[in-house]
Amino acid sequence: MMKIRDFTHRIRGRFIIGALNNVIDKDSIVLDYGYGNGLISSIIKNKSKCNVWVTDCEKSSECSLPFLSLTTLQERVWHDFFDCVLLIDTLHHIPKNKQEETLKFAKSLGRKVFVFETAPSIGAYCIDFINSLSGMPTPYAFRTPNEIMFIVDDIPEIVETPWWYPLKHYSVILEKKNG
Ligand SMILES: C[S@@+](CC[C@H](N)C(=O)[O-])C[C@H]1O[C@@H](n2cnc3c(N)ncnc32)[C@H](O)[C@@H]1O
Repeated sequence: MMKIRDFTHRIRGRFIIGALNNVIDKDSIVLDYGYGNGLISSIIKNKSKCNVWVTDCEKSSECSLPFLSLTTLQERVWHDFFDCVLLIDTLHHIPKNKQEETLKFAKSLGRKVFVFETAPSIGAYCIDFINSLSGMPTPYAFRTPNEIMFIVDDIPEIVETPWWYPLKHYSVILEKKNG
């Protein structure tokens, strides 16, 4: 029987796949940074047929995708290795004063960084409270689309969701400038 968690991941997965349209393709080598249980990483792999690697501060036993520890990723060999680094609902789990540093690190690993985030709302805080019960780092560091603009120096796109969907998401792509 399908679990509630699988159902919510499928719905959110659809929005993420939509936002990722034209960002990655079947030839892309992708790093999912903060992959959690890997359900979204697997949806991305299955839909786009790309090559997905994962990293997180916690390794999940639920996911069989190739895992690289954050320490391993510090090695020079991984710099510029990936076509795209994904931070999907990961940034708000990192304290605000570390978010810029994390994005800089993600940028060093790949040509592009794709950020998908949840805007602050009562629903978002409640979901993160539930996440915190499983021991996930939860500093409640949500950013509004306007706030994120100041860190990434780009305009985020608001993700279209149906009227009944309780959260607001946005995405933004950070591209490396040539030279
Ligand atoms: C809400 S989960 C998102 C999981 C998955 N990306 C998804 O969308 O379903 C946030 C993830 O960020 C990870 N995380 C938190 N702080 C991190 C850090 N400093 N570096 C890497 N991952 C981190 C957590 O362990 C957690 O797996």
